[in-house]
Amino acid sequence: MEKALLHLGDTTYELDIITGSEGEKALDISKLRDKTGYITLDIGYKNTGSTVSRITFIDGEQGILRYRGYPIEQLAEFSTYLEVAYLLIYGELPTRSQLENFEGRIKERTLIHEDIKKFFDGFPSSAHPMGILASVLCSLSSFYPESLDPYAPDEVIDRNIIRLLAKVPTLIAWIYKKRNGHPYMYPRNERSYVENFLHMMFGMPTYDYEPDPHVVDALNKLLILHADHEQNCSTSTVRTVGSSLANIYASVAAGVCALWGPLHGGANQEVIEMLEMIRADGGNIQKWIDKAKDKNDPFRLMGFGHRVYKNFDPRAKIIKQAADQVLNALGIHDPVLDIAKKLEEVALSDPYFIERRLYPNVDFYSGIIYRAIGIPVDMFTVMFAFGRLAGWLAQWLEMRKAGEPIVRPRQVYVGPTLREYVPIAKRG
Ligand code: SDX
Repeated sequence: MEKALLHLGDTTYELDIITGSEGEKALDISKLRDKTGYITLDIGYKNTGSTVSRITFIDGEQGILRYRGYPIEQLAEFSTYLEVAYLLIYGELPTRSQLENFEGRIKERTLIHEDIKKFFDGFPSSAHPMGILASVLCSLSSFYPESLDPYAPDEVIDRNIIRLLAKVPTLIAWIYKKRNGHPYMYPRNERSYVENFLHMMFGMPTYDYEPDPHVVDALNKLLILHADHEQNCSTSTVRTVGSSLANIYASVAAGVCALWGPLHGGANQEVIEMLEMIRADGGNIQKWIDKAKDKNDPFRLMGFGHRVYKNFDPRAKIIKQAADQVLNALGIHDPVLDIAKKLEEVALSDPYFIERRLYPNVDFYSGIIYRAIGIPVDMFTVMFAFGRLAGWLAQWLEMRKAGEPIVRPRQVYVGPTLREYVPIAKRG
């Protein structure tokens, strides 16, 4: 085992160096406080690994993203979301019979309890879909009490993983239908997973909705591209909540809440709103680039920058191509796409963005496709959660199988030192 030496005062400590399968190096500080009395401080965990994982590998310098070793470019081109979900959760690409069995188990559970409709009735029509999704997801645990057992056997955990993959598309479609005052559409299990989702979203009792194959392909691609991304904010949240032995529904609901933030999954909604604002403002790209660079201006170029990718985000490249393909296939000209491409071109030639290595991320172009499909802007992040569900489930399962301890970071206290209580009468 490679070692690092840490000199504190006149004492030298040895720290193990962990080397990952792709050559990544880490100092193992899991016993640092016991050995030295010191902790480390890394606000936002920019330099801190929270676990060892076999699921997703990212190389931010090279723009590499692989699920269980398979390049994202190949999975996006040749696979389907459910096949990728199987790969992420169980670790290997399924055989044909394994995939058929997996899809069959999901098809059996696409319905949701009729009482769930009462939940939807309770929200105001202005409720944000992410708030509804998080609430209803957590509430699902009350319909499946077996999931509350913190020591549930593998088959119970697996059954609830299947339930979530099966019911989330129905939940999302029903959120959309309820908002529009349209009748709920029930799953049609003879259809593929994505076709069934589109049927529940855009179908009506009065006619059979036949999704455009280009839309089905684009949505499969988007779900695959969003499926996992190692220890991002929302996935770390799912693992953290699950580490207390909270149930899988509560853990995934927590992931939805973390993803909602505009610095994370909420960025895809912010990007389209930003592009529309620039368009309404006359399309003055340079004005908004200058605002994004101005430290005194809170405006940021949404969809740009990433904690890990310091060159391009491989997902953004694929989504940009897919956006062109889908819009051409559907005969749609979206002026906002032209603004997005111009914004990227200007930003990537500007020293501010070059020096800070800020490139379009997964959220920059995805909204263009969602909009072309007919997804309302405030449901873009719900679509992100839909894709990320597979990764959250895989990462939660990995954490549980590894028997990881409850997540409980330390801190450096910088508040008031000891002082005596002063009765209010003496406080002036
Ligand atoms: C996702 O972690 C994941 O993997 C996330 C994700 C996933 O799949 O799960 O990839 C999904 O969340 C993508 C990111 C979506 N968010 C956005 O697009 C929001 C805009 N981007 C930023 O807010 C920012 O880039 C973050 C949040 C994505 C990353 O922030 P970091 O790593 O904490 O970097 P930082 O905020 O410290 O920025 C470093 C510098 C700063 O300037 P200086 O103080 O050094 O002068 O870059 C600047 C920032 O001001 N900067 C930006 C910018 N992003 C960073 N300036 C203008 N516009 C931006 N978008």
